[in-house]
Amino acid sequence: MVRIAVFVSGGGTNLQVLIDACKEKYINGEIVLVVSNRKKAYGLERAKNANIKAECIKDDELLIKRLGEEKVDLIVLAGYLAIVSDKLISLYENRIMNIHPSLIPSFCGPGFYGLHVHEHAFERGVKVAGATVHFVSSVVDGGPIILQRAIDVSSAKSPEEMQEIVLVNIEHKILKEAVKLYCDGKIKVENERVRIE
Ligand code: GRF
Repeated sequence: MVRIAVFVSGGGTNLQVLIDACKEKYINGEIVLVVSNRKKAYGLERAKNANIKAECIKDDELLIKRLGEEKVDLIVLAGYLAIVSDKLISLYENRIMNIHPSLIPSFCGPGFYGLHVHEHAFERGVKVAGATVHFVSSVVDGGPIILQRAIDVSSAKSPEEMQEIVLVNIEHKILKEAVKLYCDGKIKVENERVRIE
C-alpha cells in the first residue's frame, strides 16, 4: 500500500476527493499525513475529520523529518502555494505530484497560481481551459507531465466561474486518476517524459 502525504494551503477540495477515493479503494494507497504551510487552511480540518494526521509545518528540515517518520512514498501538492525546496525534490525525485489549473505550458510559472491563473486566462479570452498533473522539478510547473484534460469555458462570465468549472470538472478527476495510476505502478518516467502503462 502506497503511503501518501498531501500538502495543502487552502480549502482542500482536491484533498477531499483523494480522501474519499482512498476510502472507496479507488486508489490503492493510504493518506498518512496532511501538511499545510497555513495554520488556518480548511484542508487541515478535512484531514482531522477523516482521522488523518494534520500538521502545519513551515520548516523544511522538520518537514523532511516528518515525511521520513511517516515512511511517505508519494507527496501530492493539492493547492499548495509554498515553493518546495530543492532538497525535498531531490529526496523524492518523480515522487512529488502537483495539480496546476491550466494546460501547461500556458498560464504557468512564477506568479501563476490559484485564481491568478484564471484571471489571466479570462483576460485573454480563452474558450478552452483545463488542468495539468505533473511531477515537480526545480523549475516551477516545469516537471514531466502525467495527465492533462481540457474543457470548454466559453460560458464563464468571470475568472471565479472559470476556476470553478476547471476545479470541479477537471482537477478533481485527473488528480484522482493520476494518484491511482501511480499507486498501481502504471507511471514510468524515462528521459523526463512520463509513459503510462
Ligand atoms: C486549485 O485550483 C489548485 O489547482 C490551485 O489551488 C486550488 C486549490 O483548490 N493550486 P483546493 O484547495 O483543492 O480546493
